[in-house]
Amino acid sequence: KKKIKIAIDSPAAAGAGTQAKLISKYFNLFYLDTGKIYRLIANIKLTQPNKYSHSLIKKKMLKLTMKDLQNKKLLSDEVGTMASIISKDKKIRKLVHAFQIKSAYHPPKKYNGSCLDGRDITYKIIPDADFKFFITANTKTRALRRYKELKGLNKKISFNEVLKSIKNRDKSDYNRKVSPLMRTRDSVLINTTNLTKRSCFLKIKQIMDRKL
Ligand code: C5P
Repeated sequence: KKKIKIAIDSPAAAGAGTQAKLISKYFNLFYLDTGKIYRLIANIKLTQPNKYSHSLIKKKMLKLTMKDLQNKKLLSDEVGTMASIISKDKKIRKLVHAFQIKSAYHPPKKYNGSCLDGRDITYKIIPDADFKFFITANTKTRALRRYKELKGLNKKISFNEVLKSIKNRDKSDYNRKVSPLMRTRDSVLINTTNLTKRSCFLKIKQIMDRKL
């Protein structure tokens, strides 16, 4: 049976990760949050600034496992901000490419396919995806969601700081030259501002059921 591939692009804290997890579980797909890879590299830059180099990252990428991406430290706002800086580096993006391609096109056998979310997944990583979504929500809603998430992790940060950081991240992700965040014409737009997690999931599932 043919495996299915889902590509999702979205700005920060729009709910893409939550939806990607729900959909992956429901359709038994291998899920990769590609932002986590950039966050892992950002964390190296923050903790070992003197050691940071393309050759070090190349080595790290060759040994990368899903477990490395589960590190709770990667969830902080500081790491997210640094991720949006290091991800502008074309060479870094090249080093991250192979792991994403392997996850998308050769997921572990037990899965029915793969689901990746990020910024350039629909047009660079999986241009031939069976389903493409652009998941977004208004800025305040995203900031509030991220704020609650960070509070839940006991991070010391104010709502205004989160809002400012989301705005900065949008600016840098949408406007950069290398792999900018954008909605491709063949991606289905999902605005989660006024949707519950459940209703959003059902909407995506309905779109998929129609084609499967
Ligand atoms: O998705 P997340 O907020 O964890 O991503 C952190 C940063 O990593 C983003 O703001 C973006 O600059 C970068 N990123 C990227 N390409 C991806 C995923 C994330 O450039 N596919």
